[in-house]
Amino acid sequence: MTEPRGLPPDTVGLLEGIATTRAIRRYRDEPIPAEVLRAILFAATRAPSGSNRQPFRMLVLTDGPKAAEAKRLIAESARRTWGAKRVADAYDAGSGTDPSSPKARTARAMQHYVDHFETVPVLILPCLVRYRAPNSFEGASVYPACQNLLLAARALGYGGVLTGFHFGAEAALRELLGVPDEAFMAATITLGRPVGRHGPVRRRPMAELVYEEQWGTPPAWAVDPPGTEHTSAGPPTAHPPSR
Ligand SMILES: Cc1cc2nc3c(=O)[nH]c(=O)nc-3n(C[C@H](O)[C@H](O)[C@H](O)COP(=O)(O)O)c2cc1C
Repeated sequence: MTEPRGLPPDTVGLLEGIATTRAIRRYRDEPIPAEVLRAILFAATRAPSGSNRQPFRMLVLTDGPKAAEAKRLIAESARRTWGAKRVADAYDAGSGTDPSSPKARTARAMQHYVDHFETVPVLILPCLVRYRAPNSFEGASVYPACQNLLLAARALGYGGVLTGFHFGAEAALRELLGVPDEAFMAATITLGRPVGRHGPVRRRPMAELVYEEQWGTPPAWAVDPPGTEHTSAGPPTAHPPSR
């Protein structure tokens, strides 16, 4: 494993890290040391952006009084948002009545996450300082930094998840933290030492997502590596699709 100069060593290679950076919503009750936060935020700030303008800003909230209040505000919003989604998406009906079903497991993880939101070790509010009228491409100058951040956390044995839970508390957060009007509050990321292990991500087979030459036609080489796990939207087996 290569060790970047002046940064902690990676615990995992880049490609393996990408394939195992899952949404982590349960954290051990441990702070993230400053040198780890430094490395994670360094990685975030190395992300690309349009014309290299670097309009993203990362507001990091750990254990200060404003951090506690921001966590409380977002926790309330998270509980409202998840509570409504749980009902609207019928998480407790159908297969959700079987506690071992993926639906029930997701509901439990989400409920635990929002119920314990005040105690997340680190909260990060990625923002985009707008320099022109909002447009549908602008997120491309802030979300790469968010993914760099999550990948760097994974590389150092930490984990997190990107959410939209700040949207229900945006006005109060702006007031509390002095976020100016021209800064778009792009996400809420929580980070910590995971309870449990980093599993492989489950996605659709790449042949459903990658096309060549024309829309809808996967390339012959679009074959997932052996052992790749898929979501239920994918095929019933973990083997590459045969064509
Ligand atoms: C744009 C976006 C919005 C998301 N919003 C939320 C959210 O509001 N709450 C949440 O708990 N997770 C949220 N997530 C996390 C996704 O649910 C998660 O990445 C996805 O289910 C895949 O999980 P996995 O990587 O563990 O397989 C969001 C992710 C993205 C990329």
